[in-house]
Amino acid sequence: MSDPRVIVALDYPDANSALALAARLDPKLCKVKVGNELYTAAGPQLIDNIIKSGFAVFLDLKYHDIPSTVTAACAAAAELGVWMVNVHALGGRAMMAAAREALSRRKAAPKLVAVTLLTSMEEADAAEAGLSGTPQENVLRLARLARASGLDGVVCSAHEAAALRKACGAGFLLVTPGIRPATAAAGDQKRVATPRAAVAGGADYLVIGRPITRAADPLAALRAINDEIAQ
Ligand code: C5P
Repeated sequence: MSDPRVIVALDYPDANSALALAARLDPKLCKVKVGNELYTAAGPQLIDNIIKSGFAVFLDLKYHDIPSTVTAACAAAAELGVWMVNVHALGGRAMMAAAREALSRRKAAPKLVAVTLLTSMEEADAAEAGLSGTPQENVLRLARLARASGLDGVVCSAHEAAALRKACGAGFLLVTPGIRPATAAAGDQKRVATPRAAVAGGADYLVIGRPITRAADPLAALRAINDEIAQ
């Protein structure tokens, strides 16, 4: 598999648990995602270990700060050798463009994507925070802003992928969590899509956690998902 499309979410509280799961996977068949919990607990050393074992890493820390701080954080992520890093589109154009510019000057830069509206926020939550419009309107507006700021793509729900593909064009990366194979439990994810539906909707990469990490045989679960996508 030349460019694995599944990104396994390593949602663990410590390095040993994350490395134990990674050891059961195959870097030729997936990438991995390290988020705030694991990174806060285990830091750069863990990222280095995971990269040394062959995995491309999506560092999911959702930077949201003034442009100079976010730029410096993105540069530090690039130094770690990660494959993808993300920021909040709500940080605005100047922040995103500065991060883009800083990464573009590097030889091997991670892909830079934006989180639009957190999927945990409904219309009333967004309104309370000063964002009018439906979640879909906010997502589309922020995705267009991310594209205009030079970002490589956005993190979005599979249900938004088709509309975003239309609004942002080919080549704009769509990274979709909330994926559940038809046979898996949805858990706390509400608007789920199957791997096949996500890819059919235009998703480039699928973030998948528990359906793989909690499977009795994680590698078999990953292979089954890759087979479903390939069909
Ligand atoms: O276990 P599960 O497949 O639900 O894991 C999904 C991963 O994607 C988690 O790391 C979660 O934090 C992340 N995520 C999400 N929904 C978003 C953005 C990120 O579930 N909108």
